Amino acid sequence: MGDREIFSPLRWNDGVLQLIDQLRLPGEEVWIDCASEDEVHRAIRTMIVRGAPAIGCAAAYGVAIAARRIAGESPELARDGFAAEIETVLADLATARPTAVNLFWALDEMRNVVRAAEKSASARQLADAMEQRAVSIHGEDIAMCQRIGQHGADFVPDGGTVLTHCNAGALATGGYGTALGVIRAAHEAGKTLSVIADETRPYLQGARLTAWELMRDGLDVTVIPDGAAAALLRRGEIQCCVVGADRIAANGDAANKIGTYGVALAANASNVPFYVAAPRSTVDLQTARGADIPIEEREGAEMFNIGTTRIAPAQVKGRYPAFDVTPAHLITAIITDAGVARPPYTESLAQLMSSDTIRS
Ligand code: MRU
Repeated sequence: MGDREIFSPLRWNDGVLQLIDQLRLPGEEVWIDCASEDEVHRAIRTMIVRGAPAIGCAAAYGVAIAARRIAGESPELARDGFAAEIETVLADLATARPTAVNLFWALDEMRNVVRAAEKSASARQLADAMEQRAVSIHGEDIAMCQRIGQHGADFVPDGGTVLTHCNAGALATGGYGTALGVIRAAHEAGKTLSVIADETRPYLQGARLTAWELMRDGLDVTVIPDGAAAALLRRGEIQCCVVGADRIAANGDAANKIGTYGVALAANASNVPFYVAAPRSTVDLQTARGADIPIEEREGAEMFNIGTTRIAPAQVKGRYPAFDVTPAHLITAIITDAGVARPPYTESLAQLMSSDTIRS
């Protein structure tokens, strides 16, 4: 990636989490401050910050903010009292969004900081340790994305066209991206490639975010309506698909933005390889199969507007399942920071998850 600075959608500024407001991109680049855990919770719930790994990073910072507040309010608290207060914060942040397992992974990492501390640790020491862990989760996420890119770049054919769905880029992670990390790494390796971005109704993560960040990096990107992907795959205009994931079950079934399953079916029907790129913090070995992954249902009304323009009749019913599950048999390979998993995933994922720790 040369000397180019890695863009991150999160900044940690002296106890305040700053987030680029992803609802306002690409029209406006506005950074908002989150100075309390409640503000972080709201930013996740309302999609100011979104994308599984970025949600995990934001939640970790939210816990660090809360830890600082608790230490300021009750400096006399010992570890066990502090742990009890932190549990309330963890429980609340865990309700922000249900599907991305990175949220729960990051909250567990923060819980473990308190558990690993000496019983005699002061509230201030605990808060400092939690802040350090949040910063390291963010840094490790960027490093994991770069490793995903290294492992995945070879799958992108030189001169080919790659389709991606939603935004699994720098904006969805600590930085660099998962699916877009693979694309970036192939580009940086000198390959010529074109990217097709599904627009991804209704939040338009493809049209607004993927297009914005790839154009910023000088990549060739074309936005298509979600419904056009199958036809372009059938016409041989796409050589591979790379998407991210919000949770990968132990058997390789992968939850990602609604519409991903349809892309996988169409890719399969046209013999185009379909790759999922994700850090190991997205792999959930406790969830046996995709049917057990909780799927977020957002307000149907979120579909009724494009920008500020209402497009649906008043009173009409709407339904917006925000994710779907692509069954493992449609996935050619899962590209992780620890290497590439191939079917059968129950064995290959278990092996990758035990190969070493997630920390770099
Ligand atoms: O609802 P969102 O925008 O949070 O959904 C994001 C996705 O589905 C991404 O593809 C996924 O989180 C992978 S991010 C690297």
